[in-house]
Amino acid sequence: MNINDSQILVVGGAGFIGSHLVEQLLAQNPREIIIYDNFCRGTLANIAKAMEDPRVSIFPDGGDILHYDVLLQAMDGVDYVFHLAALWLLQCHEYPEAAFEVNFRGTFNVIRAANATGIKKLIFSSSASVYGNANYILTEESPFLNDTFYGTSKITGEEMLKAYHQRYGLPYITLRYFNAYGPRQDYKGVYIAVIMKILDRLDQGLPPILMGDGAQSYDFIYVDDIARANILAAKSSVDHGAFNICTGKKTSIREICDLLIELSGRSDIEIEFREAAQTFVTSRLGAPEKAEKEFGFTAETPLNEGLMDLINWRNQDKKIR
Ligand SMILES: NC(=O)c1ccc[n+]([C@@H]2O[C@H](COP(=O)([O-])OP(=O)(O)OC[C@H]3O[C@@H](n4cnc5c(N)ncnc54)[C@H](O)[C@@H]3O)[C@@H](O)[C@H]2O)c1
Repeated sequence: MNINDSQILVVGGAGFIGSHLVEQLLAQNPREIIIYDNFCRGTLANIAKAMEDPRVSIFPDGGDILHYDVLLQAMDGVDYVFHLAALWLLQCHEYPEAAFEVNFRGTFNVIRAANATGIKKLIFSSSASVYGNANYILTEESPFLNDTFYGTSKITGEEMLKAYHQRYGLPYITLRYFNAYGPRQDYKGVYIAVIMKILDRLDQGLPPILMGDGAQSYDFIYVDDIARANILAAKSSVDHGAFNICTGKKTSIREICDLLIELSGRSDIEIEFREAAQTFVTSRLGAPEKAEKEFGFTAETPLNEGLMDLINWRNQDKKIR
């Protein structure tokens, strides 16, 4: 499918991943990109660069996925919708009712509006959280061992899309991101915040603190790779299904910490280990083959390069503030 000259709505486009997606979409020659966001976590700073392009705008009449009529208006004439808006894992943990409203009802609104306006394809941001804690390689057929409100909301979103496709033929793709990192990440991500905290300590010349032995391991994927996966999914002829968006490589928190120490040039500093606090998931590794086979996606950014980009962005950001 061609997204050249198309009109695109990025729901949650002012967030971490959404803002990178908007920037990459500009290279696809779209006619217009509209950002739909209520800015509960997204920021104007995230989209400042993209907003310099006259083809990018913020939907002027509102930006909340709880408002179905506003969504319907925002999707008028739109070809592709990328749905990234959601409350994050810890927020859903603390506020399950809010999680229900935004991630369940809000996602239902997005799907319903997309179906009513007859868009060409909806790309939905799901998560590896659907798999829960599992010590084996996760394929798209692996069982949902999730036990969190957040993961439940992603499973529900996926299932609603399946049902809409079956009932009305709505074209969609669900992308299950593993652990995203990169410039513009913040401190709210339950697994990723550790990277920012390690860098804070290194900036202060203090030993980074790891909870437990740092053996918790995840499949870390660079944010620009995730943005590219969204575009490949939209452009492909695939019109339904769920796909892992991962690297297929597992890295422990201890290894990340060692790498950050090296990249920051602070090899004089030793790690400090403390007793483990609550962790939702201790192990996660995805199988990337299905996305590669069906729409040609492979993660390209090596961890050391992605982390260096993150460090450079933090340093730049500190200078601006
Ligand atoms: N970051 C990760 O590691 C990761 C991993 C797996 C899945 N995901 C999913 O990918 C998507 C994007 O993640 P992110 O890290 O960029 O998160 P993010 O919080 O930075 O972005 C989400 C955006 O949605 C907006 N939003 C929240 N509630 C809204 C509402 N009611 N109406 C309109 N906008 C609303 C926020 O303001 C924010 O800009 C999310 O759906 C998330 O669940 C992220």
